[in-house]
Amino acid sequence: MPSTVPSETKFRLAVLASGGGSNADKICSYFKTHPSINVVIIISNRRHAGVFDVAAKHDIQSAYIPKNQWEDSEPVFELLQQNRITHIILAGFLLHIPEWLIQTFPKKIINIHPALLPRFGGKGMYGHHVHEAVKAVGDLVSGITIHEVNERYDEGRIIFQKEVELDPSDSPKEIGAKVLKTEHTEYPRVIEKWILG
Ligand code: GAR
Repeated sequence: MPSTVPSETKFRLAVLASGGGSNADKICSYFKTHPSINVVIIISNRRHAGVFDVAAKHDIQSAYIPKNQWEDSEPVFELLQQNRITHIILAGFLLHIPEWLIQTFPKKIINIHPALLPRFGGKGMYGHHVHEAVKAVGDLVSGITIHEVNERYDEGRIIFQKEVELDPSDSPKEIGAKVLKTEHTEYPRVIEKWILG
């Protein structure tokens, strides 16, 4: 497996993603030459997820772990342990995080949600569903939330929020594009601050 990550890197990130991986892309770029934090592996539960192209582009190793292998700790745990992962970054990862993983990495798993939690959160609220719900109630402000992951969907400690102004004519797709742009600029530096304190 190709890898450009120096073995002595202090903080070693695993990025988990299910989709296109535009956030993963920004995170990989941001930490590429970072002195103490590097992305070591990208893991997806979707065999053909676009995030595998992101991994190849950045020369970062990647792994596909199908949905049915996440509840049983062995394959995921081995991969994380072999790579001496210290922090887990969810970037559009749509599987439920099993309890064993939360207990193995207490307060070391972070997620980004494309709205201002606690509004528009919970099971089934991801991606375009969130933006459609925002449009349906006619909100003129949405935003992003970055939070620690605990046993309940979207309820972990909030680390960072930022509002995104909307126009009454914005479609759900346009809302999504505005929100994603803010995710790209904020998520990498919030991760850095969260880790380094
Ligand atoms: C992002 O908008 C992220 O906030 C969202 O999925 C998208 C992934 O985009 N996550 C959720 O909705 C989680 N509840 P990306 O694959 O281009 O980074």
